[in-house]
Amino acid sequence: MKAVTVRSYHPDDEEAVLGVWNRVLVADRISPATWRAKVLLDPNFDPELCLVAESDGTVVGICYAVVRRVPYFNVAVQPEQAWITALAVDTDQQRRGIGGRLLDTCLDRLRARGCQEISVSPYVPHYFAPGVDIDAYPAGVRFLENYGFSVVSRPVGMSADLEGYVVPSEVRAAAERVRASGIIIRPAEPRDILPTLALIRRHFSWDWWREAQEVFRELFCGHSEAVGMVVARRGDQVIGYAQHRGEHFGPFGVDPSLRGEGIGRVLLAEILVGMNALGYHCAWFLWTGEKAARGVYAACGFQIRRRFAVMKRTL
Ligand SMILES: CC(C)(COP(=O)(O)OP(=O)(O)OC[C@H]1O[C@@H](n2cnc3c(N)ncnc32)[C@H](O)[C@@H]1OP(=O)(O)O)[C@@H](O)C(=O)NCCC(=O)NCCS
Repeated sequence: MKAVTVRSYHPDDEEAVLGVWNRVLVADRISPATWRAKVLLDPNFDPELCLVAESDGTVVGICYAVVRRVPYFNVAVQPEQAWITALAVDTDQQRRGIGGRLLDTCLDRLRARGCQEISVSPYVPHYFAPGVDIDAYPAGVRFLENYGFSVVSRPVGMSADLEGYVVPSEVRAAAERVRASGIIIRPAEPRDILPTLALIRRHFSWDWWREAQEVFRELFCGHSEAVGMVVARRGDQVIGYAQHRGEHFGPFGVDPSLRGEGIGRVLLAEILVGMNALGYHCAWFLWTGEKAARGVYAACGFQIRRRFAVMKRTL
């Protein structure tokens, strides 16, 4: 076997790295634009943690780790925490120790920086998948388990076929009940900006705040063809909302004190109908728990398409 070297990312590596990525990570292929936006232009990108394995001048593997050195809204720098958001060895080069060399080098460099814990791969905001897709990459799960990682949660990704989408009768009945209780569900308007962001600040995360901010920007400060938002209002208050960007559905949320009354599924069905009217044939997202998957999402026609293992180990 030819000698393999592991080195830091070089600005000329983009094409070769994306070649390996898109041959191996077939459930998570990306464009050069996504690579630049989520990796190279991330303020936390450090070429020394973006490891490239090279054999005879050819790139054969990549392991990308990231540590937060710039605060993200109210999330402070987290020098003790690291994430691996991508790990791949070219298909004809696997089981030759290359993945192990990449991971060993990565863990050594992280330890030298004082990191104490590493997760695959829920790095906000620039993760590619919540964890390892256990159906697409079963060898990845085994590989990481051999390296002392264990599964800490099992989110699922879902999608719904929107061709001829019909709102289920159970959801139509819920919509009637919600309307009768004085709640209005309709597409977002500019006057919903402040109460929606207030709801998100009270009950959800800054990452969701940023996602809503971006959709509002496109809806009301620029071009709005590809995004949409639906809100549930009671009087002056927004008590729930759902959004999409292209075929990507979410996030969506309902005030915790008003859950279980059908508001979520009405919001969800409303936005699916709107997405289909914009010409989208499918709605998908990558991250929810089993309970929501079997409940609100199943009620609106979503099916589980992907299962992930979020994995973690100490360093
Ligand atoms: C995971 C991955 C990076 C490992 O790279 P690699 O170069 O094959 O790793 P190594 O040769 O150092 O180690 C291989 C070990 O991983 C496990 N493994 C790898 N492929 C396996 C397979 N098909 N079946 C069972 N175990 C496997 C085994 O423990 C194996 O050790 P062994 O060969 O002694 O049995 C590579 O398989 C890969 O790119 N998979 C697809 C992408 C992926 O799963 N990425 C991780 C999540 S993002």
